[in-house]
Amino acid sequence: MSISSIIGAYNSKFGSFVTRNHETGEFTDLKSIYELIIEAGKGALSDAGISGKEVDGVWLGSFAPGLFANQEHLAAFATEIDPSGLRFKSMTRCEAACASGSVAIYDALYAVESGRINIALVVGVEKMHLLDTKGVTHALSTCSYWPEEGAKSVSFPMLFAEYAKSYRDHYKLTNTELERMLATISALAYQNGVDNPLAQFSKGSPPDKQGLFTADAILNLPSKMNPVIADPLHLHDCSLVTDGSAAVVIMRTKDALKAGKRVVEIAGIGHVNERLAISVRPNMYDLMAGKEAVRCAFKEAKINIGDVDLVEVHDCFTINQILCTEALGLSKDGRAGQDYLEGRFTRLDDRCAVNLSGGLKAKGHPVGATGVSMHALLFKQLVGEPIGAKLSGKTPSVGVSFNVGGSAVTNCVSVLRRLK
Ligand code: COA
Repeated sequence: MSISSIIGAYNSKFGSFVTRNHETGEFTDLKSIYELIIEAGKGALSDAGISGKEVDGVWLGSFAPGLFANQEHLAAFATEIDPSGLRFKSMTRCEAACASGSVAIYDALYAVESGRINIALVVGVEKMHLLDTKGVTHALSTCSYWPEEGAKSVSFPMLFAEYAKSYRDHYKLTNTELERMLATISALAYQNGVDNPLAQFSKGSPPDKQGLFTADAILNLPSKMNPVIADPLHLHDCSLVTDGSAAVVIMRTKDALKAGKRVVEIAGIGHVNERLAISVRPNMYDLMAGKEAVRCAFKEAKINIGDVDLVEVHDCFTINQILCTEALGLSKDGRAGQDYLEGRFTRLDDRCAVNLSGGLKAKGHPVGATGVSMHALLFKQLVGEPIGAKLSGKTPSVGVSFNVGGSAVTNCVSVLRRLK
């Protein structure tokens, strides 16, 4: 069933919007979680050409605002996006770790598709930089299976290091071969990110200044500039800690076409859960639930991977970009690393480009905003208003987002197709 479309989108600048005095610990919040919500919500409404009055309900994706910013009941604040238009409307927060944003979009979609509402505003937000790295690592670990993982100090880099080791061993790669594949993926993210003015690692950022646009440049860094975070993953394999927000407006497709909007249909979705604990999974070299999400989304949209022009995938760690690339069918199992080494999936690729935005590695990863940001930036690409890098040689008509929550537990795949 596909009857809903995105008709407007907005993405805030991603970055660290906090200054901290490292001696006293005092900090100044330069852009609060509240400002981020208002900015994205207003931006998407304006992009869609509608007012808050026309919106029936707001869905807000945010992973852990209570831990990160001392604010629960966060969706209620979304009224402030347009107090006269949104007061007395329904406000719902969705939480599914790093897939909170996509799940908020899907919950809004379910409401539109049920016939109960006509127009939904979906906002994704996370404000991570009020905490230091230790606090962020703790907050993130609460979305692991706490008794076996978080409580035993197993961090997210450590969970994805398990995928990396398993993939390396299953496909009989040496550590050196795997590291080169992963560095190639980071370098591609930095190449794309530097062209995205909204990216945390955009022009003038550390990777730009250090020229980290090739695997060699990353692999040749002295170890203190690319330390091991969780063996075999290094600093440049990890996504960023980010403050940011994004929003989209969803409307019934036939009404959107009638109203003369730009219309990007949500042609199919796959919303599939894996078991929470990694200890109970049959293997760690394959996104089994991710593959099922891809199958559901492609079946509903009646497409195959050959129809897709560009994808935004969840490179929370570079190894996950390899796994997502294989789950989508862009590469055969065990081949994605080699395909990246051979220069595939860049903006010049005549088949499909991956993460033109710079991905979580360079654009940044404000966890609750990430899924919404993927949809927002794909919308912009598909309506011919790309932010930053764009495909060379063709105007895209089909894009896919692949957003993952936790250690590849919540898997959200959306097929977006330009109708008008
Ligand atoms: N990739 C590349 N560079 C990074 C980086 C990253 N992920 N994180 C920080 N840096 C850079 C900073 O820009 C800074 O550079 P500069 O000194 O040239 O300005 C330097 O490293 C130190 O930054 P700092 O914030 O002190 O780094 P850190 O060591 O405290 O944090 C990580 C590094 C990897 C621990 C942190 O980025 C992290 O936890 N990432 C993963 C987030 C995550 O798990 N998200 C959920 C995924 S499921």
